[in-house]
Parts: sequence; structure tokens; C-alpha cells
Amino acid sequence: MKVVTTREELRVARAGLSGGVGLVPTMGFLHDGHLSLVRRAKQENDAAAVSIFVNPTQFGPTEDLAAYPRDLDHDLALLADAGVDLVWTPRVEDVYPAGFDTYVTPGGVADVLEGARRPGHFRGVATIISILFHLVAPQRAYFGQKDAQQVAVIRQLVRDLGLPVGIVAGPIIREPDGLAMSSRNTYLSAEDRPAALVLSRALHAAELAWDGGERDAEALRATMRQILAAEPRATVDYVSVAHPDTLAELATVDPAVGALASLAVRVGTPRLIDNLVLAPRG
Ligand code: PAF
Repeated sequence: MKVVTTREELRVARAGLSGGVGLVPTMGFLHDGHLSLVRRAKQENDAAAVSIFVNPTQFGPTEDLAAYPRDLDHDLALLADAGVDLVWTPRVEDVYPAGFDTYVTPGGVADVLEGARRPGHFRGVATIISILFHLVAPQRAYFGQKDAQQVAVIRQLVRDLGLPVGIVAGPIIREPDGLAMSSRNTYLSAEDRPAALVLSRALHAAELAWDGGERDAEALRATMRQILAAEPRATVDYVSVAHPDTLAELATVDPAVGALASLAVRVGTPRLIDNLVLAPRG
């Protein structure tokens, strides 16, 4: 496994890989969710590459950039075990050299939900992903469905700019009790950890209602809000039932299209997000 830092080292190492490359962009502090993407990238391509970079341009001024959890040695051991061929661990100046001044600003799909609460977040994501796709030139890139809006923004980016990269979304990987895996779960206190299960419980209730024939989006949102309201440690930020591609809020869910049910909830310190696809019904 080659581990490189500068753009030039990356260029040389990339040139040494033959065939199609599967890229897994990450911010490190890897968990089983990331590793499931890495294993898939390895299986589906001739070579697997991973980037580890806590990208400052996607953090707002009041967000947790400095405190974001990091453990590079552990990450590299996991990636070596998984048989990864190339890891790029750039410094900020390798990604954003002095004088850097070009950003990629996504459209409406980035303005709602997470984008509405985190102004500039998806501009930072679209910019780093554009840089990564140009420098690594992957055949496919792998993202977790846990960040469903990020997947939607990146699919739109690839379509609009005609980038020759296949976007693969891997399913949400959950702890045995249902909590969606996230590097931010490390911020949960012992008392808040059980309370965090309210997110997956609320989504599950919406899915049961959907399976039972409920097509009124507000009724589905109300089902989730009711479960969340019963958990005193949880403060709801949003509850959404939206079109799976545009993420526009729905009044009625078209059974042929389905919807994305998603929510953001603060449990103690961390703000957690989770989602579930209400799959189309013939
Ligand atoms: O999902 C993440 O960890 C980040 O948003 C990504 C895709 C690595 C871009 O910095």
C-alpha cells in the first residue's frame, strides 16, 4: 500500500496503478461503514484508492473542524488490512495551495435539509470531490448512503459536469441496536447513547406506515415527530419526506417513485443524521 501526501507524489503513484481505480473519499476515523465501501471498491475495480482529508471548506465557522476525530495510524492499519493500493493523506496546502480560489457551487439540491442548516457545506464537498476526481481519475467512487444528500449533490455534479466517474452509494451500516455508524457517534455520552436510538426508531415507524399504505407525506413526518418527541434528550432539527433525487419536500408520495425519509436530531452534544429510503411500490 502506497501512502502519499503531495499532489506530485499522488500523480506518480496514480500513474503506477493500471486498470480502473475505485476511490473511497473519507475524512478518516474509519469505521465499518467506510470499510464496507473500501471492500466494495477493491472487489469492483482493478485497484482501490482511499483519500483521508478533513476538508476545511465543508465546515462552517461554528462547526467542529479542530475537534473532528482523527486517528491516522489506526486508519492506515485498517486500510492495509483491507488490501488498499493507494492512500492520499494530503495536508491542507496540498489540496488548497496558496492562492487557491476556485470553488464548485452546487444548485438547488444542496440548498435544502443539511445545506439549509450548514451554509457552504456542499460547496466545500463539491469542490473537494471535483479536485479528487481530477487528481485520482477514478472509474468509480464510493459514498455512504448515510449522507444521502451528499450522494444526491455528487450525482448532480457528475451529471452536470460530465465527469466520467460512476457513483456508487453503499447502504447505511448500523450498530447491532440500529444506530447508524458515524465518526460523530464518538461525541455521544454514555447517557445519550441509548437515546440516540430514537432516530432509527422514528425512521422505522415511518417505514411501517409506508408499508401499511400511508402515502400522505405530512402523516409520515408526523409519525416520526411523535416518536422523537417522546425522547427528552433529543432536540429535533428537521424531519423530512422528500423526493429521492431533488430532495424537494413532498405532499403526497408517489408509490412508483418512493421517497427519502430523513432527519437531523441533536442528542446531547452531537447533531446526528439518519435516513431511510421509502422504496417504490409497484
Ligand atoms: O463524507 C465525507 O466524509 C466527506 O464529506 C467527503 C465525501 C470525504 C468529502 O470531504
